[in-house]
Amino acid sequence: MDFASGYGRLTRLLVQEIDPSKSWVTEIQEDAVRFQEREFSVNGIVSTTEPDDFPSSRQFDCILVVSLFSHLPEKRFYQWMRRLYGLLSPNGILIFTVHDRSNAPHLDYSKSRIHYNPSVSEIETLHDQEYGSTHVTEPFVADVISRATKGKARYFRFPKGIWHHDIYVVTGSQELSPPDIGVVGPLFPITLHDGNLSGWFHDTRVGEKVSKVEILRRGEVVDAISAGRTPREMFRGGEAPDSVDGRGVASGANAFYGDERFMPNGWSAPLYFFRWNMVPSSYEDDLIVRACGTSGMTRDFPVWIHGY
Ligand SMILES: C[S@@+](CC[C@H](N)C(=O)[O-])C[C@H]1O[C@@H](n2cnc3c(N)ncnc32)[C@H](O)[C@@H]1O
Repeated sequence: MDFASGYGRLTRLLVQEIDPSKSWVTEIQEDAVRFQEREFSVNGIVSTTEPDDFPSSRQFDCILVVSLFSHLPEKRFYQWMRRLYGLLSPNGILIFTVHDRSNAPHLDYSKSRIHYNPSVSEIETLHDQEYGSTHVTEPFVADVISRATKGKARYFRFPKGIWHHDIYVVTGSQELSPPDIGVVGPLFPITLHDGNLSGWFHDTRVGEKVSKVEILRRGEVVDAISAGRTPREMFRGGEAPDSVDGRGVASGANAFYGDERFMPNGWSAPLYFFRWNMVPSSYEDDLIVRACGTSGMTRDFPVWIHGY
């Protein structure tokens, strides 16, 4: 079940993997439910503000909640956690996302481990005491999971697992170990700015790191940049920021992840040959940045041509 699915940003991908007749979408906006029933042939449930009024006694093997807990006030955060956990089948898993404190480091988490801002909302039809913008710490989430599941559930967390959201995976009492994600990088496409590509990568596995960045054009490696000697040292090319999002805003990868372990592997490649020899519009689809881990794992990132 995709809970709080909106108009199906994820449903359209989900139904390519899972039989629509076995997929459920749930939304408080009824027209969003009807739209997805029509477009994707999935089952729909119209949700409620009060978790206890939620009209389903069905059990689900997997409940996915992308970008709802990042908008809930404290009381609802707890109530929906309890309600959704209660809808899981015996070996079911609940996957949800939050805005971690690292996305709003200016807030004071020593007094409160959750910050709810009622005035930041993109949904006008929902009351500001029901839906706003929420930032949390991991101890807060851990505590809610523990209380809402009476200590039965286990969880693991993927910092910035989806865009700027942290992903939490909650299981029943069964043991589940997190998969090794390996090489991660900016979730925004890497952007070409003033003939320069820059960004950061990180290998989440213990003892592994990104040792090389390759730039490919039409499948051919046209440039390769080796890692610096120290984690903070740029691979090449001068003043590359540790991390660059799609709008060109720089911030450290460890600040982005809110975790000192995520020391940045910043890199930068001045693409002078692109600047002089190529027509910009012709290479948008051609450029790939490939992060190569020491273990041989590679991950490809598309390049977004912007502000050239
Ligand atoms: C930020 S959107 C995320 C939509 C979708 N999950 C996605 O990632 O594209 C949050 C959604 O939660 C829905 N929502 C808010 N309160 C809800 C509730 N009590 N039950 C179900 N959906 C709710 C909103 O209508 C909105 O579509």
